[in-house]
Amino acid sequence: MAGPENSDSKAPGLILHQARLYDLTVWLMTLGRERAFREKILRLARLKPGESVLDVGCGTGSLAIAARQHVGPAGIVTGIDASPEMIARAEKKAARARTNVAFEQAPAQELPFPAAQFDVVFTTVMLHHLPRASRDQCAQQMRRVLKPGGRVVAVDFAPRAEPKGFLSAFHRHGNVKLDDIIASLEAAGLIVTESGDLGFRNLQYALATTRGST
Ligand SMILES: C[S@@+](CC[C@H](N)C(=O)[O-])C[C@H]1O[C@@H](n2cnc3c(N)ncnc32)[C@H](O)[C@@H]1O
Repeated sequence: MAGPENSDSKAPGLILHQARLYDLTVWLMTLGRERAFREKILRLARLKPGESVLDVGCGTGSLAIAARQHVGPAGIVTGIDASPEMIARAEKKAARARTNVAFEQAPAQELPFPAAQFDVVFTTVMLHHLPRASRDQCAQQMRRVLKPGGRVVAVDFAPRAEPKGFLSAFHRHGNVKLDDIIASLEAAGLIVTESGDLGFRNLQYALATTRGST
């Protein structure tokens, strides 16, 4: 879900600035089923009440806001994105939903958190924005902030031979091979326990963990 926007030297990648347009694009791409799309991703992590969650490249915050309900009042949810516009919109959406989610502008390659802070780290359709070296850096950072036994869920678009249909013509997005996502996660020292098609458009996922237990 990337438009041809500018990149930032501190956060190499495609930083999106059209936050309002982004939500409309997601609505179109999910044919109004964004909530079902988000829940499918959240279920992969098997979130438990009280867990701490980070969403890397959170965009306008939809996944993080939905995650809040899974971890309950004792849980903590944080989202980071390099785009100030995305973060501003995410904060507005959380306030509107009367949900306590912390959003922060930060690069995925340099997460501003101490080590071993989160039970679960998500990254959804963000990795295709990054060049290979930055993807590896991001994976290392996700691994660093994860508690022992914590989980990473990475979701992104698979390459497709020919874009099909009206929506594809209206909006083309990038992609990244599942093998490349897995390679970055494994190079960071994570163990990939599950991977495959998400069952939503041409999205694929990898679920990974650290050694040890929470
Ligand atoms: C296609 S959007 C996905 C947003 C959200 N995860 C979702 O599922 O709707 C990709 C997001 O990654 C952000 N992004 C791109 N490069 C980044 C980087 N280096 N660090 C942090 N965020 C980045 C963009 O600003 C954008 O909000």
